[in-house]
Amino acid sequence: MKLVKVKDYQEMSQKASSVLLELIAKKADPVLGLATGSTPIGMYQSLIKAYEQETVSFKHVKTFNLDEYVGLACQHPNSYHSFMNEKLFKHIDIDSGQTFIPDGTADDLVVECQKYEVQIRKAGQIDLQVLGLGLNGHIGFNEPGTSFSSRTHVINLMESTRLANARFFDSLDEVPTQAITMGINTIIESKLILLLVSGEKKAKALARLLNGEVSEEFPASILKRHPNVIIIADEAACREYGN
Ligand code: F6R
Repeated sequence: MKLVKVKDYQEMSQKASSVLLELIAKKADPVLGLATGSTPIGMYQSLIKAYEQETVSFKHVKTFNLDEYVGLACQHPNSYHSFMNEKLFKHIDIDSGQTFIPDGTADDLVVECQKYEVQIRKAGQIDLQVLGLGLNGHIGFNEPGTSFSSRTHVINLMESTRLANARFFDSLDEVPTQAITMGINTIIESKLILLLVSGEKKAKALARLLNGEVSEEFPASILKRHPNVIIIADEAACREYGN
């Protein structure tokens, strides 16, 4: 894992977007794995800016999102479909038929997970997967204890994750209790992984990732076994790591 320390959220976002832009510029058919949550919003803003300045087109880009809440329709304002539309897709020239997100309202969720795996396989391999870091070490919605060999699956969200995400909802009761998430093995098959970490509240999790052991109790620790991981972390997030 290569750690790139930056000053703040803005620098993290710019650096991250330049990694994506470089890939989009050089590859004829780039496949991106995308994340939601607070962390990548600045990166998306930076990508939109590049598009508006006409330095990039997304017409040839295919995307796969990490996860979606179970029970929220695509149009629901808190669905990750809506998040991606609002934060990125509607602002750029990406083909909506090339943006993939699991359907959390599918009649058969197991079949939906299998379908998602097939769609990823058909696309070849994810060239670059963007990840945020959960306070408990989750990546995607793979909560502690998830098998490292997991593929896309339905997961029960931990109370701490629901609490952390309640800020996007009117009340905790409205936060779904389940999600569909790419599995850890699915994520780890990406060629390059870009983990973004910002803010003091992530400092403990980042220190555990960098100093701790590889264990299913801390899902992000699997990244230590991947040959090509870049962590972009700001000063506040590096506070407990030390050097
Ligand atoms: C989002 C996702 C999650 C988040 C993580 C951090 O698609 O899969 O793993 O990346 O919960 O969330 P934020 O960025 O809101 O701190």
